[in-house]
Amino acid sequence: MFDVLELTSEAAVDIEIDGNALRVPAHFTVAAALLANGQMTCRTSAVSGAPRGPFCMMGVCFECLVEVDGVPNVQACMTRVAAGMRVRSMHGKARLA
Ligand code: FES
Repeated sequence: MFDVLELTSEAAVDIEIDGNALRVPAHFTVAAALLANGQMTCRTSAVSGAPRGPFCMMGVCFECLVEVDGVPNVQACMTRVAAGMRVRSMHGKARLA
């Protein structure tokens, strides 16, 4: 397995995923940051509690929903990382904004 974070020399940003500090390339989406960090699950199903994670990586499946800076139901694959961003996994039914 290769370390994708070592493959780029572009600018990096510091974000937080579920309380863990992480430095990622500034061009990454949140989903890419999750996967590069080895985190395959970003939410659990509201019905069965089954783990769900990024699948299509192009905004179609909605399996990648996370909370970003307190906003629930954000598509991780369609959201670029930003310095200081706080990402949280979502579990079960998400509250509506
Ligand atoms: S991974 Fe399918 S919508 Fe984000």
